[in-house]
Amino acid sequence: MARTTKPKTPKADPLFDLRWQRGQRDLIGPLTRLYGGTHDVPAIMDRLRTLLATHWHDRPDDLRALDLTRDIDPDWFLSQDMVAYVFYIDKFAGTLARVPDHIPYLKDLGVSHAHFMPCLRPRPGQSDGGHAVMDYRAINPALGTMEKFETVAKACRAEGIDLGIDIVLNHTAREHEWASRAREGDPFYQAFYRMFDDDTLPKQYEKSLLEIFPAQSSGNFTYYPDFKKWVWTTFNEYQWDLNWENPELFLAILDTILHLANKGVTIFRLDAVAFMWKKMGTICQNLPEVHDLLQALVQSTRVAAPAVIHKAEAIVGPADLVAYLGTGRHEGKVSNLAHHNNLMVQFWSSLASRDTRLMTYVMKTHFPESFRHACFATYIRCHDNIGWAITPEDANRFPPMTDVGHRNFLADFYAGDFEGSFARGEDFQSNPEAGDRRTVGSFASLAGLERALDEDDEPAADLAIKRILMGHALIASFGGVPHLYMGDEIGLLNDYSFHDDPDLADDGRWMHRPQMDWAAVTTLPQGRTPAARIHAGTKAILATRKATPQLASHIPTKIVDISHPGLFIFERLSDDRTVTCLFNFSETDQSVTPWALKLDPARRYRDLLTGAPLNLKDGAITLPPYASLWLIPEG
Ligand code: GLC
Repeated sequence: MARTTKPKTPKADPLFDLRWQRGQRDLIGPLTRLYGGTHDVPAIMDRLRTLLATHWHDRPDDLRALDLTRDIDPDWFLSQDMVAYVFYIDKFAGTLARVPDHIPYLKDLGVSHAHFMPCLRPRPGQSDGGHAVMDYRAINPALGTMEKFETVAKACRAEGIDLGIDIVLNHTAREHEWASRAREGDPFYQAFYRMFDDDTLPKQYEKSLLEIFPAQSSGNFTYYPDFKKWVWTTFNEYQWDLNWENPELFLAILDTILHLANKGVTIFRLDAVAFMWKKMGTICQNLPEVHDLLQALVQSTRVAAPAVIHKAEAIVGPADLVAYLGTGRHEGKVSNLAHHNNLMVQFWSSLASRDTRLMTYVMKTHFPESFRHACFATYIRCHDNIGWAITPEDANRFPPMTDVGHRNFLADFYAGDFEGSFARGEDFQSNPEAGDRRTVGSFASLAGLERALDEDDEPAADLAIKRILMGHALIASFGGVPHLYMGDEIGLLNDYSFHDDPDLADDGRWMHRPQMDWAAVTTLPQGRTPAARIHAGTKAILATRKATPQLASHIPTKIVDISHPGLFIFERLSDDRTVTCLFNFSETDQSVTPWALKLDPARRYRDLLTGAPLNLKDGAITLPPYASLWLIPEG
């Protein structure tokens, strides 16, 4: 048998029974919809209960204590104290064992959630940055061991830092034990994957599917002559798509998640969830069953490990994104966090065009002001490329803009190919036939710092730093948990060395996955370098966020649309002291009158970021280039 947790008949436990009673209500619906037509749902529920009880039985005492506090306060992660920092262990610390050395650095910056990029044992050689896992129960040996992982998780927890990891749900490496068994012909494990005897069905599916990595891995299926089967391989050939229509697979993955939760993981980033369910004639993304699956995984975890929350990675258009935070029957019951890729895309779009009208429209039209038991993971850069998720319906509202025209403009601008562009980035896996262009590059390089430093252009460097700080102020105040990507707090530039590594050279995303520059960190106290300015600015923004209850994620975010093309504005509503956040997306001063913002003429206002009282210039509020203003009425 492949590795699983041996089911036990645990002792009676009233706390578990209560949790199971509560959980059942939210589990039976999704499991019936997913499996009712083909399987015996009561039998699945029985096995699920045993699985959950077994992991609860094995759960360490300190994690059980955390479970209790979070059971009582399930919205703990909506606090303005939450700040995430995302990194590859080797690039940040070398090895797992060295991570605790850097906890003081994280604490000083204001971080409360450390997210490890894939750290489970990947296949050897190419592994899509670790997203091709061959053993979910082992740590990548190049980084450390599971024992060490538990120690590090404890050390983080002791300092109030939640530990998150990536868990890949759409596929395993083709070297995973399940895949090897399948390859050897074991029908039980063949049913864990999407396999076909001939290419009839693959060809039919292919008609409506998109290509994710057209340049490095074209098509969505691979034929293996050794065992004479076609296998669904959405991403790379070596990543085999899992078959979630099989409840055995559901139970096996849940077993894995709970096993890792008991090792100390409290936040799972559910990788590529949009792809988990497939249906002929569709693009096989964002299908309704995905939300049932998420609810089943999230609510099961809540029974056996209530301290744990889930963060969905669904990099999709605005119309599809909201459902990942729970709508309709899934409201308050699916992922607790979801990456806000639309905010990220709109940040870069407004920065390039110096026009915030599309951003204001998209944010106001497609997203609710708040969610139940959920919020966004806000970010400006991450380890992936930027996909220009701008729809025709949205872009065409702002003639002469068109979606294709604007996407091409953005890709050109950030590749540095548009006249006047400040950016240094590159195109990634462009698919001209599909009108799809994507971009890679680090925050600082895309924001203009690399070019400015190369050209020794101090005023341009100054503007780049201001853009970066505006981005951090945006994600810290918008609502949601701000996610800083390692090195963005010190302005790390593109790293072109991946070109020399044959395992990495065909994946341009490595350009924005540089090594942490600890030498630069030692110079931070000395002052005026770009790294020091960005770091000090970011730290101050995060500290101000923590001191401002209006910035907690359960507080509604109301977009203010006054058709001002230079400014992006929203309010964080409060009965008495609403905070109004303004951002200048241009390199010229931008003004707005207090009455346009409906500020109370009888009150005095202060900018939370600088602490300075609001001074009007010719009756208007004026924001210098790329400034952020968080206005609050005096108490
Ligand atoms: C997610 C990851 C990305 C990876 C893909 C396939 O989108 O963020 O890096 O390539 O899944 O696992």
